[in-house]
Amino acid sequence: MHILPAVKKLKIDMGEAAREVYFDYDPTMEPEQYSIVADKTGIRVFSSDKKGKFYAKKTLEQIFYEYKDKIPCFTIEDEPKYSYRGFMMDCCRHFFTVDEIKKEIEVAASVKMNKFHWHLTDDQGWRIEIKKYPLLTEIGSVRKQTRKDGKEVKGYYTAEEIKDIVKFCKERFIDVIPEIDMPGHFTAAIAAYPHLGCTGEKKEVSEHFGIHCEIACAGKETTYGFIKDVLDEVTELFPYEYIHIGGDEALKYRYTECPDCRKKIAEENLADEEALQGYFMNAAIDYLAEKRRKAVLWNDGTLGGNVKGNYAVQYWKETKECKNAAIAAAESGKEIIYSPFSSLYLDYPCGMTPLKKTYNYKEEKELTDRVKGLETPVWTEFIPDIKTWELRAYPRLFAVAERAWSEEKDYDGFLLRLDEYEKFAKENFAIKICDNPDPNRIAGLIETLKFGIKAFDPYFIEFARLTRITKKRMNKRKNS
Ligand code: ACM
Ligand code: ZN
Repeated sequence: MHILPAVKKLKIDMGEAAREVYFDYDPTMEPEQYSIVADKTGIRVFSSDKKGKFYAKKTLEQIFYEYKDKIPCFTIEDEPKYSYRGFMMDCCRHFFTVDEIKKEIEVAASVKMNKFHWHLTDDQGWRIEIKKYPLLTEIGSVRKQTRKDGKEVKGYYTAEEIKDIVKFCKERFIDVIPEIDMPGHFTAAIAAYPHLGCTGEKKEVSEHFGIHCEIACAGKETTYGFIKDVLDEVTELFPYEYIHIGGDEALKYRYTECPDCRKKIAEENLADEEALQGYFMNAAIDYLAEKRRKAVLWNDGTLGGNVKGNYAVQYWKETKECKNAAIAAAESGKEIIYSPFSSLYLDYPCGMTPLKKTYNYKEEKELTDRVKGLETPVWTEFIPDIKTWELRAYPRLFAVAERAWSEEKDYDGFLLRLDEYEKFAKENFAIKICDNPDPNRIAGLIETLKFGIKAFDPYFIEFARLTRITKKRMNKRKNS
């Protein structure tokens, strides 16, 4: 019997089970836990909540598919390893329709994932309707072209469409975690409302990828007002505990020269520009806490060392400095959502991040005790359409789903389960799945090289230059 993700205990008995399914309540079970006993009298499912019942049904769908009309007698006991089992869709770099998103949510639900992290704002597009600031979508959701290709990319989700997605997810016991990325990855917002940037100058929705220098000004009170207004509407649309506020890749170039930011650093007695970002993140964290929500920050968003309050950290960046920031957060009791770049990022080809590497992702022992769960991000800079999204995400997303649900770690066993699951998924969801997810070293190297050449943008050289200047300016101030 092949069930993906692997169930905790499975025993196959002699004989054929009757197909009638009965659902029973067992108050001794934990949320999400379930058991199934199948014998000649029928198939009995036990759980203490609707989630356990839902996961039992997902397991049964795979069993019915595998055995068609002759089901053996069996017993299953099952429960998740982690309470956070997520995937992320970046709908900013490329836009996906509501139906396309729903399709992938359906697939994720079938492998018992329960968090959909929806990346909704970035330099290249603002994708969520905010009624108080209509220009965010009127201007910010339209990118004239990408790296001089002449092709417009546009689109956003209305409040009604968002409610529809949230409802669709709720029916599948998936929490939706919206991400409003700040203060970096903010060019589209600045294009709509230039006063949000440090210079106040008009900018275009970005036509390039990488780290940008226009970030939300942390010195002006109007920026804080804007963020609160946006979070007011976001929390109305998304009823769940977590709201992601990004914090990643915020180049402090403008902060080193903006009079408002310099003034804020002095007034608040902040150590440097990194601490200014920390101050900015704290304002959003505290505002969300007032609404009884918990902010999630990428781990490089906490580098200022002064980020406080009720927040969770998403561990993606594995440099020593960023890992230490996550460890410090874990030691102070913060939850860690585990998304290491080198293994759980699925935007890169399998040649660079093979399936086996994703499955055997690197665990950092200093973080293990605080890991709330796993999330696999799929950034879409180089994913122009949903077919390509699927070919990148699948089957590696299934490896993440299994590692998030199952205690068992057994790659060969996973491959057997995957073989059966892929047939099931292709037939039921009509998805595309990469058919060579573990290429040999040479093929992997060639694929990685080709991707690197395609992804390279001379614009990156400019980012690197601004990063160097920023570091120099910050070091000079520190030493003076
Ligand atoms: C990220 O990959 N910039 C979080
Ligand atoms: Zn500023």
